[in-house]
Amino acid sequence: MRISVIGCGYLGAVHAACMAELGHDVVGLDVDEARIESLAAGRAPFHEPGFPELLARNVESGRLRFTTDPSLIADSEIHFIGVGTPQLDGALAADLRYVDAAIETVMDHAAPRTEGRPVLVAGKSTVPVGTAQRLADRLAGSGKNIILAWNPEFLREGYAVQDTLHPDRLVYGLPEDRGQGDVAKAILDECYATPLADGTPLVVANYPTAELVKVAANSFLATKISFINAMAELCEATGGDVSRLAEAIGHDDRIGKKFLQAGIGFGGGCLPKDIRAFMARAEELGVDEALTFLREVDAINLRRRHHAVELAEEAAGGSVAGARVAVLGITFKPDTDDLRDSPALDIAMRLRDRGARLVVADPAAGDELRRRHPGLDVADSVEDAVREADVVMVLTPWRDYLDLDPEALGDLVATRTIIDGRNVLDPRRWHDAGWNYHGMGRGVSAW
Ligand code: UDX
Repeated sequence: MRISVIGCGYLGAVHAACMAELGHDVVGLDVDEARIESLAAGRAPFHEPGFPELLARNVESGRLRFTTDPSLIADSEIHFIGVGTPQLDGALAADLRYVDAAIETVMDHAAPRTEGRPVLVAGKSTVPVGTAQRLADRLAGSGKNIILAWNPEFLREGYAVQDTLHPDRLVYGLPEDRGQGDVAKAILDECYATPLADGTPLVVANYPTAELVKVAANSFLATKISFINAMAELCEATGGDVSRLAEAIGHDDRIGKKFLQAGIGFGGGCLPKDIRAFMARAEELGVDEALTFLREVDAINLRRRHHAVELAEEAAGGSVAGARVAVLGITFKPDTDDLRDSPALDIAMRLRDRGARLVVADPAAGDELRRRHPGLDVADSVEDAVREADVVMVLTPWRDYLDLDPEALGDLVATRTIIDGRNVLDPRRWHDAGWNYHGMGRGVSAW
């Protein structure tokens, strides 16, 4: 199929490359010239495992092109919308200007269909419920025979390629008009023929359901993380161990083990802003009470960042002013260079504001960090970062950090004090090597 993907960020660029991998003829469109130049040359503009190879292969084959020229989307049978919906400045709600602009682009440049099946716009961006119907009404006025489906995206950064090629489910939000809905479904079925043939579950619903599925999923995940972080607060007050607690409750299938990792909380380009936009939309709809719990979820999450700063101050003897603090990991999670709403970056900046002599190391985001925060001390290796440190903080659970050797590191630091912001180190091992170990809701215990 001839496909366009509008918006070539983490979501759109990976979606475009995966659609080409499935055999489609794809053009990715974005207004960011530097990004498009890099993608068109087959060079990944961000860190995402498996993406560089996939991109290079499909650009090379000629099935995948990238452009800033919207006229090149004219012949596409499907236009996927993968632009960002960031949080509005000074408000909780989502900023829809890029989605609206993408719809205008399609209306301006799609070739009119006078015969044959209509052109399909498939929305993938996370939007407030009610947006799809508004956009469908707008497209209906174009006179170009364009219909809309909402097809939310659930990819996780770090696993984006796998999640797109082998999704755990596909969701189609279709128009109420059965005729139009059947056509939209047939077009999407053709596009996703390979994952559907592989047995990927498909859920078909109306627009509001499909829009809600995405924010409901992210709200549930955020709630799970804040739940375990609330238990971490209880463990801190009582001497309990939240990792053991999570392990024990996770054996119950109804609860499950995933997303129960307590630590400095969730961040990134999705979870924080999605729960806030969801609350803002609920308020507009007059059902804000249904989501007041998300306010608590957000508050618990932000408290963990504050707690990590306090732990560092206590560990440094009451104040970090003048103390050398080594931060290992600055991205919001491992296997990405994404710094959007990163708890690690937030904590690091707060410590710097309190006078810490900060050194940061990160396996992927070092260059980006130097660009954004000139003057920040960014080390090229863990060893360089921790040299002469008074406090070492592991804030992103990169694989490289899981097997850090407390003995070897101990020889480099000024004081053997470690804050394990993601509860990924073995407390006893660090303790036995003479370190003051501080976890998030766990300490060193005989058990
Ligand atoms: C999320 C959703 O998982 C994905 O389905 C959606 O499409 C986009 O938003 P992503 O932003 O890539 O994906 O990150 P995710 O893996 O969900 O992690 C979010 C944050 O939660 C990270 O900061 C991570 O460190 C944190 N987290 C995750 C925890 O603190 N504890 C956990 O147990 C799991």
